[in-house]
Amino acid sequence: MATFPPEPFRIKVVEPVKLTAREERERLIAEAGYNVFKLRAEDCYIDLLTDSGTSAMSDAQWSALMQGDESYAGAKSFFRFQEAVQRIFGMPYVVPAHQGRAAENVLFTVTVRPGMQIPSNMHFDTTHANISARGGRPVNLLADLGLDPTARAPFKGDIDLEKLERFIGMVGRDNIPMGMLTITNNSGGGQPVSMANIRATSELLHRHGIPFFIDAARYAENAYFIKLREPGYDKKSPLEIANETFSHADGATMSAKKDALVNIGGFIALRDADLYQRVCNELILREGFPTYGGLAGRDLEVIARGLWEGLDESYLAYRIAYTQYLGDRLVEEGIPILEPPGGHAIYLDAKRFLPHVPQSEFPGQALAVAMYVEGGIRCCEIGSVMFAARDPGTGQIVYPALELVRLAIPRRVYTQTHLDYVVETCKRVHARRESLRGLRIAYEPPLLRHFTARFEPV
Ligand SMILES: Cc1ncc(COP(=O)(O)O)c(C=O)c1O
Repeated sequence: MATFPPEPFRIKVVEPVKLTAREERERLIAEAGYNVFKLRAEDCYIDLLTDSGTSAMSDAQWSALMQGDESYAGAKSFFRFQEAVQRIFGMPYVVPAHQGRAAENVLFTVTVRPGMQIPSNMHFDTTHANISARGGRPVNLLADLGLDPTARAPFKGDIDLEKLERFIGMVGRDNIPMGMLTITNNSGGGQPVSMANIRATSELLHRHGIPFFIDAARYAENAYFIKLREPGYDKKSPLEIANETFSHADGATMSAKKDALVNIGGFIALRDADLYQRVCNELILREGFPTYGGLAGRDLEVIARGLWEGLDESYLAYRIAYTQYLGDRLVEEGIPILEPPGGHAIYLDAKRFLPHVPQSEFPGQALAVAMYVEGGIRCCEIGSVMFAARDPGTGQIVYPALELVRLAIPRRVYTQTHLDYVVETCKRVHARRESLRGLRIAYEPPLLRHFTARFEPV
């Protein structure tokens, strides 16, 4: 089990949470159409739905809110935000956006034409949907190791470079507006990407004249994994590793709601002046003037501070070990998880947890529902509800290789006792796993169905 670097902070403000009765939770989840997104947050005792926008801000960030400059154009807060992004990302151009998917929307609107394809290790769902919404095709080329939930390897977020080379040969560089890497790989277990793979991906794409972008939502956690696991990086600071990471890229999209430790915000960082101009024009239409991009001045102020706090070495040491603690305790109890533990979340392996529920009956969703009923814990399916899709050629439904339930850990929010409670709840669900049944869809929207679909028990 991980030795536990203790929290490099203490608690100054508390927010009460309450545990409802089991019968009440059974009623609430049925009323929510067995979709945890439709539950009220106050009815969840421990909310592990997402680590996105759920961080506790520091006293320095709360006081920075008061220094927000709310001028429409050229606010002081924008320049403080810009300076932090430029120093960490090393890119000259930066525009704010209200969150990560807004940054993706603006970027893909100006770069993707119908029929184009964008390779990645693994696109996150919003990236996937934003590329599809522009008529493009998102393609995942994760190395096979990343698809084996039991393999304990250091960098299971790496892209398969041979597959990428073949893909470029088949599709042709003119149909590939960019290649991407998601660091860490959220949809594949929060697994890190090695610097060697980042460098090689950049070289391969650039050899073919294709720009390289990074989905940077959890770049600081990725940097810390590189420090811990990749030879030659143990003496480097997270900032130095982040600088090196982005030195290989032409641009990045960022959801600041993760490693910038804020509740809202995102941005695009770029090297190319012409692309920056086109992004600004689109941004003005969709988000706002390029010095606020859909955010208030105070939001920019807290992102500027949060970016530095998110790179702090004592914070990252605690953060990664704390997540690993949850993973190690679950493994000790014989509960199948995607191994090794990721940076921001532990992923229950629903295929091994509920082998009697076929993918067509959404074992991940059934498991997420059971975690809520058992202990008031809200977690999120990342499996067939999120990713199963009809193949346009054959008309057959293609199921994803991984069927996961993500226990995403908000930053600086829950204590070790909370994590122990999560383990106890998982143990109880595991003990009665054979009694759990699958679900079928009663309603689904055309895109991003996991947010609003309704289910009923099979
Ligand atoms: C890897 C990754 N990219 C992009 C996004 C989208 O960011 P946002 O939720 O801020 O729109 C997320 C959000 O969870 C993510 O995990």
